[in-house]
Amino acid sequence: MTQQLSIGILGAGRVGTAVGRQAVRAGHRVRIATDKPADEIKLLTEVIVPGAEAVDKDQLRGSDIIVVAVPLHKYRSIDTEVLQGHVVIDTMNYWAPVDGVMQEFESGRSTSEVVADFFGDVRLVKTLNHIGYGDLEVDSHPAGTPGRRALALAADDDDAKQLVAAFIDSLGYDAVDAGALSAGKAFENGTEIFNGRHTAEQMTGLLEQCQRVLAGV
Ligand SMILES: NC(=O)c1ccc[n+]([C@@H]2O[C@H](COP(=O)([O-])OP(=O)(O)OC[C@H]3O[C@@H](n4cnc5c(N)ncnc54)[C@H](OP(=O)(O)O)[C@@H]3O)[C@@H](O)[C@H]2O)c1
Repeated sequence: MTQQLSIGILGAGRVGTAVGRQAVRAGHRVRIATDKPADEIKLLTEVIVPGAEAVDKDQLRGSDIIVVAVPLHKYRSIDTEVLQGHVVIDTMNYWAPVDGVMQEFESGRSTSEVVADFFGDVRLVKTLNHIGYGDLEVDSHPAGTPGRRALALAADDDDAKQLVAAFIDSLGYDAVDAGALSAGKAFENGTEIFNGRHTAEQMTGLLEQCQRVLAGV
Protein backbone atom coordinates (compact mmCIF):
# COMPACT_ATOMS: atom_id res chain seq x y z
CA MET A 1 0.00 0.00 0.00
CA THR A 2 1.18 3.52 -0.79
CA GLN A 3 2.54 5.49 2.12
CA GLN A 4 0.29 8.50 2.74
CA LEU A 5 2.30 11.71 2.47
CA SER A 6 1.53 15.33 3.18
CA ILE A 7 2.03 17.16 -0.08
CA GLY A 8 2.32 20.93 -0.22
CA ILE A 9 1.90 22.58 -3.59
CA LEU A 10 3.13 26.09 -4.31
CA GLY A 11 1.31 27.36 -7.39
CA ALA A 12 -2.37 26.77 -8.18
CA GLY A 13 -2.15 26.97 -11.96
CA ARG A 14 -2.22 24.20 -14.55
CA VAL A 15 0.55 22.04 -13.11
CA GLY A 16 -0.12 22.67 -9.42
CA THR A 17 -3.78 21.69 -9.70
CA ALA A 18 -3.09 18.67 -11.96
CA VAL A 19 -0.47 17.31 -9.55
CA GLY A 20 -2.83 18.08 -6.67
CA ARG A 21 -5.67 16.08 -8.24
CA GLN A 22 -3.48 13.05 -8.85
CA ALA A 23 -2.04 13.27 -5.35
CA VAL A 24 -5.52 13.38 -3.77
CA ARG A 25 -6.51 10.37 -5.88
CA ALA A 26 -3.43 8.55 -4.62
CA GLY A 27 -4.61 9.13 -1.04
CA HIS A 28 -2.17 11.83 0.01
CA ARG A 29 -3.04 14.87 2.12
CA VAL A 30 -2.79 17.84 -0.25
CA ARG A 31 -2.48 21.53 0.61
CA ILE A 32 -2.21 24.18 -2.09
CA ALA A 33 -0.98 27.75 -1.79
CA THR A 34 0.12 30.69 -3.88
CA ASP A 35 1.64 33.98 -2.83
CA LYS A 36 -1.86 35.26 -2.06
CA PRO A 37 -4.10 34.58 0.95
CA ALA A 38 -5.76 31.14 0.99
CA ASP A 39 -9.23 32.70 0.62
CA GLU A 40 -8.34 33.77 -2.92
CA ILE A 41 -7.84 30.18 -4.12
CA LYS A 42 -10.36 28.46 -1.85
CA LEU A 43 -13.16 28.19 -4.43
CA LEU A 44 -10.78 27.23 -7.24
CA THR A 45 -9.30 24.51 -5.06
CA GLU A 46 -12.72 23.14 -4.04
CA VAL A 47 -13.85 22.95 -7.66
CA ILE A 48 -10.66 21.90 -9.45
CA VAL A 49 -8.90 19.86 -6.77
CA PRO A 50 -11.68 18.41 -4.61
CA GLY A 51 -10.24 16.88 -1.48
CA ALA A 52 -7.33 19.33 -1.30
CA GLU A 53 -7.14 22.27 1.08
CA ALA A 54 -6.31 25.85 0.10
CA VAL A 55 -3.88 27.32 2.63
CA ASP A 56 -1.62 30.31 3.15
CA LYS A 57 1.87 29.51 1.91
CA ASP A 58 3.27 29.45 5.47
CA GLN A 59 1.08 26.42 6.14
CA LEU A 60 3.03 24.37 3.63
CA ARG A 61 5.76 24.10 6.27
CA GLY A 62 6.03 20.57 7.60
CA SER A 63 4.90 18.92 4.35
CA ASP A 64 6.75 15.72 3.46
CA ILE A 65 7.21 17.14 -0.03
CA ILE A 66 6.60 20.64 -1.41
CA VAL A 67 5.95 20.81 -5.16
CA VAL A 68 6.92 24.14 -6.73
CA ALA A 69 4.76 24.82 -9.79
CA VAL A 70 5.38 28.48 -10.54
CA PRO A 71 6.44 29.98 -13.90
CA LEU A 72 10.24 29.97 -13.94
CA HIS A 73 10.51 33.66 -14.78
CA LYS A 74 8.89 34.29 -11.36
CA TYR A 75 11.19 32.03 -9.34
CA ARG A 76 12.87 34.95 -7.63
CA SER A 77 9.49 36.05 -6.24
CA ILE A 78 9.08 32.74 -4.37
CA ASP A 79 9.18 33.02 -0.58
CA THR A 80 12.08 30.62 0.00
CA GLU A 81 11.66 30.74 3.80
CA VAL A 82 8.69 28.39 3.50
CA LEU A 83 10.82 25.83 1.67
CA GLN A 84 13.79 25.66 4.05
CA GLY A 85 14.64 22.17 5.28
CA HIS A 86 12.12 20.48 2.97
CA VAL A 87 12.20 18.00 0.14
CA VAL A 88 11.10 20.14 -2.81
CA ILE A 89 10.09 19.09 -6.32
CA ASP A 90 11.07 21.52 -9.06
CA THR A 91 8.59 21.23 -11.95
CA MET A 92 9.73 24.44 -13.62
CA ASN A 93 11.01 24.76 -17.17
CA TYR A 94 12.86 27.47 -18.98
CA TRP A 95 11.58 28.53 -22.36
CA ALA A 96 12.92 31.89 -23.48
CA PRO A 97 9.98 32.77 -25.77
CA VAL A 98 7.69 32.60 -22.73
CA ASP A 99 10.02 33.37 -19.82
CA GLY A 100 12.11 35.96 -21.66
CA VAL A 101 15.87 35.53 -21.93
CA MET A 102 17.26 34.93 -18.44
CA GLN A 103 21.05 34.90 -18.44
CA GLU A 104 21.33 32.54 -15.46
CA PHE A 105 19.55 29.86 -17.51
CA GLU A 106 21.74 30.33 -20.56
CA SER A 107 24.90 29.09 -18.81
CA GLY A 108 24.59 25.41 -19.71
CA ARG A 109 23.80 24.31 -16.14
CA SER A 110 20.55 22.53 -15.40
CA THR A 111 17.87 25.10 -14.55
CA SER A 112 17.32 23.19 -11.31
CA GLU A 113 20.93 23.76 -10.21
CA VAL A 114 20.35 27.50 -10.54
CA VAL A 115 17.03 27.22 -8.70
CA ALA A 116 18.66 25.10 -5.95
CA ASP A 117 21.27 27.83 -5.34
CA PHE A 118 18.48 30.36 -4.95
CA PHE A 119 16.27 28.18 -2.73
CA GLY A 120 19.03 27.56 -0.16
CA ASP A 121 18.65 24.75 2.38
CA VAL A 122 16.29 22.50 0.43
CA ARG A 123 16.67 18.98 -0.94
CA LEU A 124 15.64 19.68 -4.50
CA VAL A 125 14.39 16.97 -6.83
CA LYS A 126 13.79 17.74 -10.47
CA THR A 127 10.83 15.84 -11.92
CA LEU A 128 7.25 16.27 -13.21
CA ASN A 129 8.59 18.97 -15.54
CA HIS A 130 8.52 16.71 -18.60
CA ILE A 131 4.87 15.69 -18.62
CA GLY A 132 2.09 17.94 -19.84
CA TYR A 133 -0.37 18.91 -17.14
CA GLY A 134 -3.18 17.48 -19.26
CA ASP A 135 -1.41 14.11 -19.56
CA LEU A 136 -0.85 13.61 -15.88
CA GLU A 137 -4.21 11.97 -15.31
CA VAL A 138 -4.65 10.12 -18.62
CA ASP A 139 -1.18 8.54 -18.69
CA SER A 140 -1.37 7.35 -15.08
CA HIS A 141 -1.43 3.55 -14.59
CA PRO A 142 -0.98 1.20 -11.65
CA ALA A 143 2.47 -0.26 -11.03
CA GLY A 144 3.14 -3.30 -13.19
CA THR A 145 0.92 -2.19 -16.10
CA PRO A 146 2.76 -3.14 -19.34
CA GLY A 147 4.06 -0.03 -21.11
CA ARG A 148 3.56 2.15 -18.02
CA ARG A 149 4.96 5.62 -18.60
CA ALA A 150 8.11 6.59 -16.75
CA LEU A 151 9.24 9.91 -15.33
CA ALA A 152 12.87 10.78 -14.63
CA LEU A 153 14.19 12.23 -11.38
CA ALA A 154 17.41 14.08 -10.74
CA ALA A 155 18.68 15.11 -7.30
CA ASP A 156 21.85 15.32 -5.25
CA ASP A 157 20.18 13.84 -2.15
CA ASP A 158 19.46 10.11 -2.42
CA ASP A 159 16.94 9.98 0.43
CA ALA A 160 14.95 12.84 -1.07
CA LYS A 161 15.04 11.11 -4.44
CA GLN A 162 13.75 7.87 -2.93
CA LEU A 163 10.85 9.65 -1.23
CA VAL A 164 9.93 11.45 -4.44
CA ALA A 165 10.27 8.22 -6.44
CA ALA A 166 7.65 6.63 -4.17
CA PHE A 167 5.42 9.68 -4.66
CA ILE A 168 5.80 9.48 -8.46
CA ASP A 169 4.92 5.78 -8.36
CA SER A 170 1.80 6.60 -6.33
CA LEU A 171 0.78 9.10 -9.02
CA GLY A 172 0.86 6.28 -11.57
CA TYR A 173 4.35 6.40 -13.10
CA ASP A 174 7.58 4.43 -12.99
CA ALA A 175 10.31 6.61 -11.50
CA VAL A 176 13.72 6.44 -13.19
CA ASP A 177 16.80 7.78 -11.42
CA ALA A 178 18.70 10.09 -13.78
CA GLY A 179 21.49 10.80 -11.29
CA ALA A 180 22.61 14.08 -9.78
CA LEU A 181 20.68 17.33 -10.13
CA SER A 182 23.02 18.37 -12.96
CA ALA A 183 21.82 15.31 -14.93
CA GLY A 184 18.38 16.92 -15.08
CA LYS A 185 19.57 18.64 -18.26
CA ALA A 186 18.74 15.35 -20.01
CA PHE A 187 15.02 15.98 -19.58
CA GLU A 188 14.74 19.71 -19.97
CA ASN A 189 12.88 21.56 -22.68
CA GLY A 190 14.04 20.56 -26.18
CA THR A 191 15.30 17.07 -25.31
CA GLU A 192 13.87 13.80 -26.62
CA ILE A 193 12.76 12.84 -23.11
CA PHE A 194 10.96 16.16 -22.64
CA ASN A 195 9.04 15.73 -25.84
CA GLY A 196 7.87 12.13 -25.56
CA ARG A 197 6.26 9.33 -23.64
CA HIS A 198 8.71 6.65 -22.54
CA THR A 199 8.68 3.44 -20.54
CA ALA A 200 11.27 2.93 -17.80
CA GLU A 201 13.42 0.87 -20.16
CA GLN A 202 13.30 3.48 -22.90
CA MET A 203 13.92 6.26 -20.39
CA THR A 204 16.98 4.47 -19.00
CA GLY A 205 18.38 4.08 -22.52
CA LEU A 206 17.81 7.74 -23.34
CA LEU A 207 19.44 8.88 -20.10
CA GLU A 208 22.50 6.69 -20.78
CA GLN A 209 22.70 8.05 -24.31
CA CYS A 210 22.59 11.59 -22.99
CA GLN A 211 25.34 10.87 -20.45
CA ARG A 212 27.56 9.49 -23.21
CA VAL A 213 27.01 12.63 -25.30
CA LEU A 214 27.80 14.88 -22.31
CA ALA A 215 30.94 12.82 -21.56
CA GLY A 216 31.95 13.02 -25.24
CA VAL A 217 32.16 9.23 -25.76
N1 LIG B 1 1.98 23.56 -18.65
C1 LIG B 1 2.50 22.33 -18.58
O1 LIG B 1 1.96 21.35 -19.14
C2 LIG B 1 3.74 22.12 -17.77
C3 LIG B 1 4.16 20.81 -17.52
C4 LIG B 1 5.25 20.59 -16.70
C5 LIG B 1 5.91 21.67 -16.12
N2 LIG B 1 5.51 22.94 -16.39
C6 LIG B 1 6.20 24.05 -15.71
O2 LIG B 1 5.49 24.27 -14.49
C7 LIG B 1 5.59 25.65 -14.10
C8 LIG B 1 4.19 26.17 -13.82
O3 LIG B 1 3.45 26.15 -15.02
P1 LIG B 1 1.87 26.36 -15.04
O4 LIG B 1 1.47 26.13 -16.45
O5 LIG B 1 1.21 25.59 -13.95
O6 LIG B 1 1.76 27.92 -14.67
P2 LIG B 1 0.43 28.77 -14.40
O7 LIG B 1 -0.76 28.02 -14.89
O8 LIG B 1 0.70 30.14 -14.91
O9 LIG B 1 0.32 28.81 -12.79
C9 LIG B 1 1.28 29.42 -12.02
C10 LIG B 1 0.83 29.49 -10.57
O10 LIG B 1 1.93 29.99 -9.78
C11 LIG B 1 1.44 30.99 -8.89
N3 LIG B 1 2.53 31.89 -8.53
C12 LIG B 1 3.14 32.84 -9.27
N4 LIG B 1 4.13 33.42 -8.56
C13 LIG B 1 4.15 32.82 -7.34
C14 LIG B 1 4.93 32.96 -6.18
N5 LIG B 1 5.93 33.83 -6.12
N6 LIG B 1 4.67 32.19 -5.11
C15 LIG B 1 3.65 31.27 -5.15
N7 LIG B 1 2.88 31.08 -6.23
C16 LIG B 1 3.12 31.84 -7.32
C17 LIG B 1 0.33 31.66 -9.69
O11 LIG B 1 -0.50 32.38 -8.83
P3 LIG B 1 -1.18 33.75 -9.38
O12 LIG B 1 -2.10 33.34 -10.47
O13 LIG B 1 -1.84 34.28 -8.15
O14 LIG B 1 -0.03 34.61 -9.86
C18 LIG B 1 -0.35 30.44 -10.30
O15 LIG B 1 -1.21 29.85 -9.37
C19 LIG B 1 6.29 26.36 -15.25
O16 LIG B 1 7.62 26.57 -14.93
C20 LIG B 1 6.16 25.38 -16.42
O17 LIG B 1 7.25 25.47 -17.31
C21 LIG B 1 4.43 23.17 -17.19
